[in-house]
Amino acid sequence: MLTQDQLKQQVAQAALDYVLPQLHPDSILGVGTGSTVDRFIDLLAAHRSDFQAAVSSSERSTQRLRAAGIQVLDLNEVTSLALYVDGADELDHQLNMIKGGGGALTREKIVASVADRFVCIVDESKLVERLGRFPLPVEVIPLAREAVAREIRSLGGQPRLREGFVTDNGNQILDVAGLQYDNPAEFEAVLNNVPGVVSCGLFAISGAQIALVAGQAGVSRLELQE
Ligand code: 5RP
Repeated sequence: MLTQDQLKQQVAQAALDYVLPQLHPDSILGVGTGSTVDRFIDLLAAHRSDFQAAVSSSERSTQRLRAAGIQVLDLNEVTSLALYVDGADELDHQLNMIKGGGGALTREKIVASVADRFVCIVDESKLVERLGRFPLPVEVIPLAREAVAREIRSLGGQPRLREGFVTDNGNQILDVAGLQYDNPAEFEAVLNNVPGVVSCGLFAISGAQIALVAGQAGVSRLELQE
């Protein structure tokens, strides 16, 4: 029986195998955040001369990329990204995701929005029939925290401040339990409209295009028809 760590390692390798043939010396790769992505970055290090640079979704990944000898560009210096590789806290079969367990959701959403293809890499514990077990991270401007929390309660959620945590953007995170998503994209739009919300961890208006899911029987691929 493979452990979750071994499955993360397996899916990181599968991501590398998927990405490498698509990289050229002038390619720029979008890189997400989290323990699964850390493993992907470590594997990518041996191939740093096969592509030009990365754009990172967090200070954590930036540090790891640089330590691996991979050049990191600011997103403002880049007009397009063919691929963005990132993990998720939950993934459904329509490739909607909940992200932000590591608190990097806003930058992840921004970098992903510039990429042509979001490649989601998860172990099978993250694959669910219906999103909602994992509390939804919502990044808020500190001044608006209580106002946003009240609004979220009126939508049926139970917000809880992530104590002692400040995002790379200087904001706070509310982790929201108890939400039901009949229509994840619609709910994402509702939250996006609450004043003081910077972004929420629902990636449904724009989800992943491809998911690599590591399980006991190997890595399977989920892909939406375009
Ligand atoms: C960080 C994220 C991560 O992708 C998510 O939390 C999964 O992390 P891990 O690979 O450590 O399980 O959204 O903000």
